[in-house]
Amino acid sequence: MRSDPCMDKVYIGDSRALITICYPRIEPDCVRRRLSALEAHGVQYICPGGRSILPALHGGEPLRILGKGHLSVVVKALLDNEIVALKIRRTDSKKPSLIEEAHLQEKASIAGVAPRPYVYEKDFIVMEYVEGDPLIHYFEKGMFTAKHLRELLEASWILDSIGILHRELTRPHYHVYFKDFSFKALILDYDSAILGTCGSLNKVASWIIRNLIGFRTKNTEGLVKLLSRYRKERCSKEIYNEIRSIILTSVVGPEDD
Ligand SMILES: Nc1ncnc2c1ncn2[C@@H]1O[C@H](COP(=O)(O)OP(=O)(O)OP(=O)(O)O)[C@@H](O)[C@H]1O
Ligand SMILES: [Mg+2]
Repeated sequence: MRSDPCMDKVYIGDSRALITICYPRIEPDCVRRRLSALEAHGVQYICPGGRSILPALHGGEPLRILGKGHLSVVVKALLDNEIVALKIRRTDSKKPSLIEEAHLQEKASIAGVAPRPYVYEKDFIVMEYVEGDPLIHYFEKGMFTAKHLRELLEASWILDSIGILHRELTRPHYHVYFKDFSFKALILDYDSAILGTCGSLNKVASWIIRNLIGFRTKNTEGLVKLLSRYRKERCSKEIYNEIRSIILTSVVGPEDD
């Protein structure tokens, strides 16, 4: 947890914050239940800021938040005095609970590849705030380096080694974050992940082939065959090492592995 102050903090019961607590339908029952659960866990303030925008209530200022998806909204918040990310289930979410997602994320965080969930229940996950930028940021600015690629491969392999398949990694743009300064890759969002299988590396590799290697190369054919063996052989470390080596040679060059 970081201890940065939260500039312009807004009390979770304030009309500006309620749109994040019960998005998109602010109903009294939802507000009552969620406010009291959050306060009981030590979350009293949100910290406006981030890449996404929620519409304002009653013509006020729109609110900047970390992210808005189909199932939840994510906002910076304070857990006691620490900055955290608060993922809150949307009131129109097709999933009844975030608990299963939080369990998978916890397992991945113990393995070092996901932000740590501090507290969670059905309607929210209070987790480590990732100070960094998503993969898309580095990729679009031409700043995606060999170090990022190695970290990305390693994090996907670690998910496979603990039996978590993250099904959204074919588009890792906003699901993989690189922590400022350390380059460490953290994989977010376990809502469509499944336990007891593997293949996260295959998803990431398909992105790498599409975006960094290309389909019509000599290496790609061998790589595709190896990826299929990797799945069949339950994501063995030996095959991972071969895949890693081909990818790094294709993208970075032989001398840089
Ligand atoms: N721990 C975190 N630290 C910093 N930013 C985060 C964190 N968790 C989520 N975010 C931001 O919020 C965005 C949305 O998070 P997430 O993908 O978990 O939500 P979602 O509701 O599952 O979205 P989707 O419907 O697109 O799957 C992320 O892309 C990221 O930008
Ligand atoms: Mg999601």
